[in-house]
Amino acid sequence: MRRPRSARRAAAAPLRWQECASCGARQDENAALTSCPACGGLLDVKFHLPREDAVRLRRRFEARVRAAGPPHEVSGVWRFREFVLEPDPAPIVSFPEGNTPLLTSARLAAWTGCEGLYVKHEGLNPTGSFKDRGMTVGVTQAMRVGARAVACASTGNTSASLAAYAALAGVPALVLVPSGNVALGKLAQTLAYGARTLVVRGDFDACLSLARDASAQLGVYLLNSVNPFRVEGQKTIVLELLQQLGWNPPDWIALPAGNLGNTAAFGKALHEALGSDLITTMPRLLAVQAAGAAPFYQSYEEGFAERYRVAAETVATAIRIGDPASWDRAVAAIRTTDGRVLAVSDDEIFEAKAVVDAAGIGCEPASAASVAGIRQARRRGIIAPGARVVAVLTGHVLKDPGALIHYHQEAEPAPARRNAPVEIGTRLEEVERELHRALARDL
Ligand code: F0G
Repeated sequence: MRRPRSARRAAAAPLRWQECASCGARQDENAALTSCPACGGLLDVKFHLPREDAVRLRRRFEARVRAAGPPHEVSGVWRFREFVLEPDPAPIVSFPEGNTPLLTSARLAAWTGCEGLYVKHEGLNPTGSFKDRGMTVGVTQAMRVGARAVACASTGNTSASLAAYAALAGVPALVLVPSGNVALGKLAQTLAYGARTLVVRGDFDACLSLARDASAQLGVYLLNSVNPFRVEGQKTIVLELLQQLGWNPPDWIALPAGNLGNTAAFGKALHEALGSDLITTMPRLLAVQAAGAAPFYQSYEEGFAERYRVAAETVATAIRIGDPASWDRAVAAIRTTDGRVLAVSDDEIFEAKAVVDAAGIGCEPASAASVAGIRQARRRGIIAPGARVVAVLTGHVLKDPGALIHYHQEAEPAPARRNAPVEIGTRLEEVERELHRALARDL
């Protein structure tokens, strides 16, 4: 007997819940929690994958690319709502976000030795980093659960993003950042968007521990990537790049790895995309850490036998993290994708950044770790010559003006790719001389 239409629709509606990754205890979708009340473990959002066939699902995603209407209708996050969060009568807090370009660059391809290189530029989100993808979902969820205030610890991008989305939603925001280790653009944004900004005399790991205590004891809703709804939003980086590639997956997806929320999100997205036949082969993740902040790399090298904590030090302040929170989820992501973890030095990061910047693409230091990692992986034969590879650039070039000025004007010895400004008088000959120098430059 055919079931009535409404019953069929109800059966197909994906039901969501939160589930502890450690003990498996389930919580309601709208429970205002960011850790398991039974054992303190991290929560995951679980849902039934859409039952429709992949062709129809892809067609629906495609139709939404050309949608018109309120911000969330054109968002590169909410386009994939079946895999993120089903909108309900509560308002969706969206700018919109996502819809970031997938670029190619002959110069970057040559420098990395990877002809099939694409660059997914997440720095072109509304507040200049990929964090907006998780934050639209996280702040929407905060409104659903009736949060009186939202909070996060941050190396700068999460705080800028939280500040903006909280302002958009009209909910008070509290952010905790490590003293002396937040890039100027990020701090400036956070202040401008009106978040109460606490500069903590401690590192990021201390900030996160304090933010978790504040969440548990003061009742503020925590919006770090330990919040599983943030992860759901960040999955759309992968879904969107797969869509841009016509659902023909790349061989590798490279990303910088700090607190490991994004590594976890990418693994979950790929697992779900494969599970619902949106793709039929699994890309491999290349998670790249800064050598001075590489506990995950160290553990990977030993088969993940042990979890490490380190005192982190790197000029890529976004990933200056010694005790990553999403550890277990990220281990699962590397395992399910047969991924690799690498570490790159600050010099490698800055050289990669200079090449990305001079290609006209631009990114912040931490983002360049993905490109530096790809070059290292090609040189070591980890990535094969003809491989198709996507490098995710996580933040905008203007996020860290201090690092740029240092590189181009101050660093000693002068880096090979320095482009220092030239002071001149008011004579045309001086302009002509510099024109010749510009023309002689090898691009
Ligand atoms: N790239 C940028 C630009 C980041 O800001 C971050 C993290 C990462 C990469 C690493 O992502 O932590 O998910 O492994 N920034 C966080 C913040 C920690 O507070 O803005 P991850």
